[in-house]
Amino acid sequence: MNLTQFLFWLEHSPLGVFTRSLGAWSYGIVNLVHILGIVMLFGSILLLDLRLLGVWRSIPLAALSRPTVTLAMTGFFIAVASGIPMLAVKAGDYADNPFLLMKFPAIALALVNVWLLHRSGAWKAHRLRDLLPRERRRLALGASLSLAFWLTAITSGRMIGYW
Ligand code: HEM
Repeated sequence: MNLTQFLFWLEHSPLGVFTRSLGAWSYGIVNLVHILGIVMLFGSILLLDLRLLGVWRSIPLAALSRPTVTLAMTGFFIAVASGIPMLAVKAGDYADNPFLLMKFPAIALALVNVWLLHRSGAWKAHRLRDLLPRERRRLALGASLSLAFWLTAITSGRMIGYW
């Protein structure tokens, strides 16, 4: 099954039929939930990434990393849980939308970057002790990539509707 076939299958799946049957307000409400999820995800990522890039050095990184990672994960799951039914409503319409083809690879790259960052020695060390300069550089690289990937995902997500 290629992407176009998958999108048409999703539109005619029980999820697509059910979401369309919910009435005129439902898309707007699910869209609002999607935006709240994105706000929670990107707001906390922005705070953490700026700290990793050297802003607000007086705030201990370990004090900031726990709440921002928890909020970002929660926001991500809210965005996924609301995004799938939004896609199912009219998935076929997105079949030739180039921004859809940018958004999902950008999200995938952002998740790979999170995974690599979290298994790095520098990330593990930040909870235990002050970081060495090379460890700070490693985390700053991860933060730069994170901002680039998430901003690409958000920009292409917004542009999908304008294609
Ligand atoms: C499985 C995950 C996701 C799916 C299936 C999904 C699907 C969608 C769909 C169908 C739309 C509506 C496009 C339109 O205007 O017609 C949308 C909007 C959007 N998505 Fe997602 N999305 C997902 C995750 C995310 C994530 C993680 C982010 C943030 C990084 C994101 C950012 C956005 C943005 C910024 C919009 C525009 C919202 C608006 O202006 O109303 N999405 N998404």
